[in-house]
Amino acid sequence: MASSLLIPPPAQLTLGDEVVAGLTRPGQKTLPSKLFYDQVGSVLFEAICALPEYGLTQADARLLQSHAAAMIAPFAGGVTVAELGSGTGEKTRWILETLCRRQPTDYYPIEISSLALKQCQAELAAIPGLTIHPQEADYLAGLAALAALRGPAPLLVLFLGSTFGNFDPGPGHDFLVNVRSLLRPGDGLLLGLDLVKPVKRVKLAYDDPAGVTAAFNRNALARLNREFDADFDLRYWRHKIRYTRPCERVEMHLVSQRDQTAHLRALDRTVAFARGESIWTESSHKFRPAGIAPLVAAAGFRLHRQWRDDRWPFAENLCLAIE
Ligand code: TRP
Repeated sequence: MASSLLIPPPAQLTLGDEVVAGLTRPGQKTLPSKLFYDQVGSVLFEAICALPEYGLTQADARLLQSHAAAMIAPFAGGVTVAELGSGTGEKTRWILETLCRRQPTDYYPIEISSLALKQCQAELAAIPGLTIHPQEADYLAGLAALAALRGPAPLLVLFLGSTFGNFDPGPGHDFLVNVRSLLRPGDGLLLGLDLVKPVKRVKLAYDDPAGVTAAFNRNALARLNREFDADFDLRYWRHKIRYTRPCERVEMHLVSQRDQTAHLRALDRTVAFARGESIWTESSHKFRPAGIAPLVAAAGFRLHRQWRDDRWPFAENLCLAIE
């Protein structure tokens, strides 16, 4: 039974260790993007998803709602569903309802946030025929646990919302290889990917005029203040995005507005920042439709079908694990 990873995943560090490593890096300082999703950050992200400027989430939801039946068509005999990062479960509803109309279905949301898992359970509990098995784990650990206990039914892994785009290309490839190593031939991976689009649209999506996105990014520092007894003065940090033209990667930064020092008392660290220096908090890669088949083929998947939204360049990609 396939339940071990082909490529060793990066060493597991505590959040504090990751913060220290990122802020003491020579050259460009970084913070881990998982820092975004505390209770405040998760609510701010929900607000981002409702912004008309951030069309990604709505495009994802439209495609799932319109094409759920076609997306599950290859699994006519029934399928177990796993989801990497369930969020609130809202978008997954369409696929699960469509499946449960056909036969009872097991659903394994895999999520590091216990709050999101609870919300997801509450959102989906009423679907007749659905059994929810929440897995509080990171993606690969949760999927490995499922791979070790699964029955004969094929598995459909959902990785929605273009979270895959937050990996750099190398780690992204390794991640897909590891997912594939936990699957059997014929299993599915439904991969949501945000597509390359004009710079102007991307700029608005990641720097909306109401400042919700800026608040989301800056909350990473507010969280350090709350959880690590730090003293970042948020008045002197600005949200800034950088992008390449045409846009294939958006970079999110927090830029220091003056020479300043932050003490992270619980981590026993002091970090100095020069005026204009940035902390790189996340990257969001955008994809070209023609590049997706080779991307998944390199990890042992065949792109079976792709659906694209006509209002926001976004693609849902049903990939099947090959021998
Ligand atoms: N994963 C989301 C994305 O790449 C997260 C996100 C949206 C984000 N807006 C942001 C991260 C602004 C940092 C700053 O689309």
